[in-house]
Amino acid sequence: MVELSQTSAPRLKRRIQSFVGREGRLTPAQKRALETLWPLYGLDTQAPFDADRVFCRQAPLILEIGFGNGESLLEMARSHPQFNYLGIEVHRPGVGHLLLALKRYELNNVRIYCADAVEILRERIRDQALQRINIFFPDPWPKKRHHKRRLIQPDFVSMAMRKLQPDGFLHLATDWPDYARTMQEAVATCPALHPIPVSRLHPARPRTKFEKRGLRLGHRVTDLAYIKHVGGL
Ligand SMILES: C[S@@+](CC[C@H](N)C(=O)[O-])C[C@H]1O[C@@H](n2cnc3c(N)ncnc32)[C@H](O)[C@@H]1O
Repeated sequence: MVELSQTSAPRLKRRIQSFVGREGRLTPAQKRALETLWPLYGLDTQAPFDADRVFCRQAPLILEIGFGNGESLLEMARSHPQFNYLGIEVHRPGVGHLLLALKRYELNNVRIYCADAVEILRERIRDQALQRINIFFPDPWPKKRHHKRRLIQPDFVSMAMRKLQPDGFLHLATDWPDYARTMQEAVATCPALHPIPVSRLHPARPRTKFEKRGLRLGHRVTDLAYIKHVGGL
């Protein structure tokens, strides 16, 4: 059984996390996938991350944080194989679901961390390593007393910006209007990130599972896209 460790480095202080630690129910197929397919696609949180070595090629690297069951990541990786894709998700059933799909389509341009994305970004991803960061429908934490759990906060955006290469992109999507405003305010604290039309992003965002649920409930979806320009360009 592969150890899917939740942390990659000792923490000095317990941080407020953007997720709850519930395991969720694994189907037998997902459980088998986590045991047998993890060595093919899974990354060790304790080991350094070297994209060229992991993917055995050089290609722009797109990161998706909180990919859920992985549908959007899978679709992008299938339709645009010229990119390398890194997915980070804490929810093991979602990871198992994606592993099964990666095997079904025999994709070799996706790798996965099953861990807290904040820790992986901080500890494993080199500055300027990413061509794009996608965060689609992060948990909205709608109650005011839970807003501190929201992933998109100024400190997080500042770290994400450092991990983007010059001219790299940040793509956020949410179906919670007040979270969209919070996202815009958080990104506005980072002068290197400039808003752009979402139509400039390739590959485009596929519809996600969480989004479909929001649309059924009548929610309005907001996409926010940014480019990193350093030095006042
Ligand atoms: C609301 S769901 C959206 C899933 C997917 N993006 C979609 O649109 O269907 C948010 C996901 O983010 C994951 N998540 C939340 N915080 C995370 C973190 N710090 N690191 C990795 N995954 C996280 C959750 O486990 C959950 O699957």
